[in-house]
Amino acid sequence: MKILVTGGLGYIGANTVIALAEAGYEAIILDNLSNSRMAVLGDIEGILDREVPFYKGDLLDEKFLEGVFNKEHPDGVVHFAGLKAVGESVALPLKYFENNVAGTLNLLKVMKAFEVYRVVFSSSATVYDPQNPPPFTEDMPLGPTNPYGDSKWMVEGILRRLSETHDPWAIGILRYFNPLGAHESGLLGEDPRGIPNNLMPYITRVAKGELKFLRIFGSDYDTMDGTGVRDYIHVADLARGHLMALTALSRGRGLGIYNLGTGRGHSVLEVVRTFERVNAVKIPYEYHSRRPGDVAVSFADTSKAAKALGFKASISLETMCRDAWRYEKTKK
Ligand SMILES: NC(=O)c1ccc[n+]([C@@H]2O[C@H](COP(=O)([O-])OP(=O)(O)OC[C@H]3O[C@@H](n4cnc5c(N)ncnc54)[C@H](O)[C@@H]3O)[C@@H](O)[C@H]2O)c1
Repeated sequence: MKILVTGGLGYIGANTVIALAEAGYEAIILDNLSNSRMAVLGDIEGILDREVPFYKGDLLDEKFLEGVFNKEHPDGVVHFAGLKAVGESVALPLKYFENNVAGTLNLLKVMKAFEVYRVVFSSSATVYDPQNPPPFTEDMPLGPTNPYGDSKWMVEGILRRLSETHDPWAIGILRYFNPLGAHESGLLGEDPRGIPNNLMPYITRVAKGELKFLRIFGSDYDTMDGTGVRDYIHVADLARGHLMALTALSRGRGLGIYNLGTGRGHSVLEVVRTFERVNAVKIPYEYHSRRPGDVAVSFADTSKAAKALGFKASISLETMCRDAWRYEKTKK
């Protein structure tokens, strides 16, 4: 089966391309390189020891998308391409709505035109209303607190409505919690441009000496040590979740929404201590005030994904920390 992977040179996309290819799918990558590098394609091909078709272009360019579908005729799409920096989305909401919502609309229009009705979409735990008590279940009220989260929520709504039409859409919406780690080869890690937003790239840059201190936002939350608690999931587990979602889609039409997390929360300090212990490096940190919109505790209820997809994350926080550091140290 041929799967088009949008955003396939990005962090989660690249790891999923590996999982897809290893499971016997034929993966085709589409990416505009707005947040990734061409070198990642070489890394993917090196790991797989074969060439992977790549199309450089933008979801906002409908003609380009038609060209890719005309040439490749994929059987399904795993749709990662999107902008993901929460802070930037607050400053530039139109950029986020255009890229993430209008870009997805173009993709869905072209899919329909080519009668490709199978799609897995990267959503996020940020769609949940932060007032919900954790663990978050898929049927809890939604209420994103920033334009990035809104863009995911809007696309979820579009997909839900599509699934109610007469077309035979088979749609999987995956709400990721907090992906960490890298491919076991030491390649395909998270490499954001500029000052990282996410915790782990920040930690690894402090470990490398590129940044002086880790900034921890909030030390007075009602948690075991006062720092925020999140559900960290290894990117290889996350990639495997996509295979299981694709298998579920092949059973027929409809819409399924699933959390992908471990079901367990770790505090920021716990991640820092684990990173220091397994990698024998020191991470100096300083406390800053809470960031607006951040919640104290967020973790997934994973029972639906376990029951419906057979998915269970199995890779430990220790391995996430080791893999992230190996990636950062060897990064070109
Ligand atoms: N990493 C996380 O913490 C996280 C958590 C929840 C959800 N997600 C979602 O998962 C998806 C993948 O995340 P990631 O961490 O791999 O991000 P990433 O930035 O590493 O990958 C996204 C890729 O999409 C490409 N892209 C962006 N806009 C595009 C466009 N208009 N046309 C073509 N390509 C485009 C980028 O160049 C990049 O390679 C995103 O949709 C993100 O919102 C990520």
